[in-house]
Amino acid sequence: MANLAVVVDRLARQGKDNLEISLVAQDQQTLPQWHAGDHIDLYLPNQVIRQYSLTGSPRDQDEYCICVKKERQSRGGSRYLHEQLRIGQTLEISAPRSAFPLLDAEHYLLLAAGIGITPLLAMAEELEAQQKSFELFYYVKHSMDVAFTKRWLKGFQYGQCHVLCSAEGQSIRKGLPDVFDTVQAGTQIYLCGPEAFMLFCQDACLSKAWQAEQIHFEAFAPLKQKVVDEQQQGFIVRLNSTGQEFIIPPDKTIAQVLVEQQLSIPLSCEMGMCGACLTRVCQGEVDHQDTVQTESEKNASEQYIALCCSRAKSAVLEIDL
Ligand code: FES
Repeated sequence: MANLAVVVDRLARQGKDNLEISLVAQDQQTLPQWHAGDHIDLYLPNQVIRQYSLTGSPRDQDEYCICVKKERQSRGGSRYLHEQLRIGQTLEISAPRSAFPLLDAEHYLLLAAGIGITPLLAMAEELEAQQKSFELFYYVKHSMDVAFTKRWLKGFQYGQCHVLCSAEGQSIRKGLPDVFDTVQAGTQIYLCGPEAFMLFCQDACLSKAWQAEQIHFEAFAPLKQKVVDEQQQGFIVRLNSTGQEFIIPPDKTIAQVLVEQQLSIPLSCEMGMCGACLTRVCQGEVDHQDTVQTESEKNASEQYIALCCSRAKSAVLEIDL
């Protein structure tokens, strides 16, 4: 299908760092039908093309809604949309495309982190319309980060929504919600969020004997599987303030070792997503594993390490603690 011309009809803040953008057809006609889980390509005037999941109700053909997180060092899409986009502006978009379809099931478990809520909100709306039961778990760092608060307050007749704040100790790292303990053959699981979140949830579901065919995730590129290097050696972390040194074995994170030593480390998501544990590096080379820093931050001369997940390429890493 050919690309479409749309007009920015409404801009709304959704949570601390998210911008909801409502797009209507330029000719004031209805827009092509879409399905929960679909995304569009957005062609921006600065020559950047970005993919965004559609959110809201798929039954609404008068507008398309997307929601975009403000990236700290965006080089194109997010910065432009947050700082330059104006109501009334015309944009080119692709027709909706499906990469994350909602399959037929008796029950659904939806797990979202951060801006990953966008396609899962569309799924929740569609399941509500189809009168199908679901449970949605929405992980954020702080309550102020929650998008679409009014929608959650309204509630669902056929589904339950749980908002979980990692800053209040409700990190997914503490384990999947109890409902995942019992495998249900007629249930489908949908995941959306940063790659580390989806990999963690996928692994945790598989370890509880959920079938791989029951687990679906939105990723515009295949998820990287964790490579466990059996030969990997540990490394040493040195504290800049005291000179104390700690051995970090291959099977533990820096944060785990330091916490075991009674050091106070600010932790929240424990998956490299929130930035709570970022610590300046004084010496040594970092093997970055987080998704909170941009590539330019990871390559900058002043280095920060996410203690909850990143490791060292050098034998010793001195950190600003
Ligand atoms: S605790 Fe969130 S990035 Fe480390």
